[in-house]
Amino acid sequence: MSTGRAAVVTGIGSYVPPNIVTNEDLSRRLDTSDEWIRTRTGIAERFFVSPGTSTGDLAVEAGLRALKSAGGEQVGAVVLATTTPDQPCPATAPQVAARLGLGQVPAFDVAAVCSGFLYGLASAAGLIASGVADSVLLIAADAFTTIINPEDRTTAVIFADGAGAVVLRAGSPGEPGALGPLVLGSDGELSHLIEVPAGGSKQRSSGRPAAPEDYFFRMLGRDTYRHAVERMTSASTEAAERAGWRLADVDRFAAHQANARILAAVSDRLGIPEERRLSNIARVGNTGAASIPLLLAEATAEGRLTAGNRVLLTAFGGGLSWGAATLTWPELQTI
Ligand code: UT7
Repeated sequence: MSTGRAAVVTGIGSYVPPNIVTNEDLSRRLDTSDEWIRTRTGIAERFFVSPGTSTGDLAVEAGLRALKSAGGEQVGAVVLATTTPDQPCPATAPQVAARLGLGQVPAFDVAAVCSGFLYGLASAAGLIASGVADSVLLIAADAFTTIINPEDRTTAVIFADGAGAVVLRAGSPGEPGALGPLVLGSDGELSHLIEVPAGGSKQRSSGRPAAPEDYFFRMLGRDTYRHAVERMTSASTEAAERAGWRLADVDRFAAHQANARILAAVSDRLGIPEERRLSNIARVGNTGAASIPLLLAEATAEGRLTAGNRVLLTAFGGGLSWGAATLTWPELQTI
């Protein structure tokens, strides 16, 4: 049942672990170089969790900040978008909700890899529209390095750890912060481009033990790159159209921070000039599901994203999965 209520962003927060890892640090243990990483990905440094820190820990920190930013301590539901849950079972969101003192609210995880934040926005908007909750804490968090093979230079230099969160509450479609139409898609025919082959029911039921490296994340980079550019461009175009925006109306473009070259290619295709693109990949790398809310939180805190800006969001990731959304940025308190 839809109540016609819009989901409106009222708070934002983010968190990265304290351990900074530079390209030089990685070059000391992998056959790579600062020059290769910078020119091929745009990344200079990133944050890695230390032993003992999990996705749930990152999520709690980002969630706390988003709740404070929203000026309240209570929400009606918690959604956690993640690729790296604390355990295969149960979901991590209920424990995060309990640790945040939110009581027995509905709480569940969303698994859409690097598109997780956009799929999470759709889940949160649905909870609000259906009347299940009047407000939702949506957290996107990944301790991505926990599934990266430290010996695989093709992924170990790209992926990193972090968390971002927003609070959404029921409101009206026209107000600042109200989510516009969401565009989502997937292509399971191409699931092999980004995967962790072992550890799930498919491998377990085969009765065959997996090779140790099959428990790690792997990505066919070049093919993924091509699909990322195509899908983020088409989803962004469709989301803008459905919102009734021209692409020239977009003040800030916030795309999943997959690779600086991908961001430039998508922006160029959309005709969005560099000064309207938000980017923090040089400092944080690719943080999976956390990428977009981490970017939005940092840009808000730094004054690069301000109230009234028309924002276009887009993401792409394993599944394959992708999405895009629009909103006019609200006045937000940053913590
Ligand atoms: O977040 C979810 C979605 N993810 C993405 O959208 C990521 C998409 N893909 C990419 O960002 C890029 O494809 C990568 C950054 C992963 C790779 O960049 P590329 O320009 O596509 O490089 P490539 O895979 O074509 O490899 C070029 C060369 C290869 O050597 P040869 O075969 O030409 O001799 C690689 O072995 O670069 C080599 N290479 C490296 N060299 C130094 C791959 N990784 C590294 C490395 N350091 N870390």
